[in-house]
Amino acid sequence: MDMATSSALPGHVLMAATLMLLIVQARGITRHYDFNVQMANVTRLCATKSMVTVNGQCPGPELMAREGDRVVVRVTNNVAHNITLHWHGVRQVRTGWADGPAYITQCPIQTGQSYVYNFTVDGQRGTLWWHAHISWLRATAYGAVVILPKLGVPYPFPAPHEEVPVIFGEWWTADTEAVVSQAMQTGGGPNVSDAFTINGLPGPLYNCSAQDTFKLKVKQGKTYMLRLINAALNDELFFSIANHTVTVVEVDAVYVKPFTVETLVISPGQTTNVLLTAKPYYPGANFYMSAAPYSTARPGTFANTTVAGILEYENPSRSPSAASFVKSLPLFKPTLPQLNDTDFVTNFTARLRSLASARYPAAVPRSVDRRFFFTVGMGTLPCPANTTCQGPNGTQMAAAVNNVSFVLPSRALLQSHFTGLSRGVYASDFPVTPLSPFNYTGTPPNNTNVATGTKLLVLPFNTSVELVMQDTSILGAESHPLHLHGFNFFVVGQGFGNYNPVNDPSKFNLVDPVERNTVGVPAGGWVAIRFLADNPGVWFMHCHLEVHMTWGLRMAWLVLDGSLPSQKLLPPPSDLPKC
Ligand code: C2O
Repeated sequence: MDMATSSALPGHVLMAATLMLLIVQARGITRHYDFNVQMANVTRLCATKSMVTVNGQCPGPELMAREGDRVVVRVTNNVAHNITLHWHGVRQVRTGWADGPAYITQCPIQTGQSYVYNFTVDGQRGTLWWHAHISWLRATAYGAVVILPKLGVPYPFPAPHEEVPVIFGEWWTADTEAVVSQAMQTGGGPNVSDAFTINGLPGPLYNCSAQDTFKLKVKQGKTYMLRLINAALNDELFFSIANHTVTVVEVDAVYVKPFTVETLVISPGQTTNVLLTAKPYYPGANFYMSAAPYSTARPGTFANTTVAGILEYENPSRSPSAASFVKSLPLFKPTLPQLNDTDFVTNFTARLRSLASARYPAAVPRSVDRRFFFTVGMGTLPCPANTTCQGPNGTQMAAAVNNVSFVLPSRALLQSHFTGLSRGVYASDFPVTPLSPFNYTGTPPNNTNVATGTKLLVLPFNTSVELVMQDTSILGAESHPLHLHGFNFFVVGQGFGNYNPVNDPSKFNLVDPVERNTVGVPAGGWVAIRFLADNPGVWFMHCHLEVHMTWGLRMAWLVLDGSLPSQKLLPPPSDLPKC
């Protein structure tokens, strides 16, 4: 409100207006978005392809809300593919219908149809993201979700001068739907990507891409908050800025105890807010900000390339214009860890701790109602008769949780549950522990075949859950970033080798464990998480490496309604798509 207006209004009117504003702020406002799923021609690495985008952009539009706001996104499908969108990390309390994974919480939006995702952002603030959640369409349909604290509530760290989303993506010159369907037909591994991108741009280390470089322009002495998002399909990434450190302040939209690093690691599905303080003087140099993969898988099964953006300083002795960023300056490059540097990853993740302050307590479940032990890892399926397969020893590649390779149903699980018509759609007998235990991290068994099925694990409302996820050495130990929909969880422990239920729990951190929605199960190790099942619905849990998810490294929880009206799943919206 400008002075001319305010001085013309009597005091009590102003007071009432301010009061109204405060009430609105406390309740939150409704923010409307139109997301049009449409094809767009995009040129990268000197090749043009037509691809699925939201509003013609890649990354797509940023979704911005304040904690407490309602978000209403009308998604209209104008492409030939079925589509759904997922608001990754948004808890969706009682609004599972708006979560988005295809055939889990909804049938896909068909060509020419639309669906309104309607949800409230509660008890979360920081960076999350959205992405398509069907087949591999998230390769090009993704964007940032920025949740600001409530008006007047400061960050628990000095306010940055500027906030900048930094979204890592993965680029295929080919159509990614062709890449995945070819892999499914042959049973072998899919072709790896041609480049990584920062905010859609591959940068100077790739062919033809010098013009397509993300530039972060800073002023000396100022602090910037980078909202890092790993939207890559199949690669965990190291990230570093030459000659600079960054301070990690938040992951997965939860504040952490700040700590400062030269290099960090971020898995697909994860988000990390870092503060970057520019040097107090004009350095007369440019700095690469680079990302490259972390993987323990066989070479050739993941993309081994590096994306770089450039950190540029404004020259204070020139007028602020394009000329104040001089191109011909010395260029510094960061050194990233070796691509299989598991020690680095372990040390980094061990430093992540909840803020656990009075204002932002860590609500770790102290007691446990149900304990579960899941193996996660690779496996095989027999090659169908009269075909040849390119998986190990002529099989098809597969992946599983407790040896069940999850098969997507043809009707949505949440609706099947809600209407009571679940017969023939899913079974409620997901194994709570491996049916045939073995030495998970020792010599792998000769029989690497997995079972298939659509099995759910049913939890009464408010069950306090402890889940240990154990990597297996079948077809090679690999790290698996496991993502749980509908909840945040606390990472209470992790280790290498086989989990020991007698000795390991005594080492659990129940004081300030990091709270997040996606955690790496260490290669050849295990991770223990706890969460309170206080959100009724059907909640997908899967490896966020898209290739592993495609092969079946996914399952779903069914959390039942509680007895109070406020503990029940809301009824489905009337425009919920039909299969
Ligand atoms: Cu970010 Cu089920 O996914």
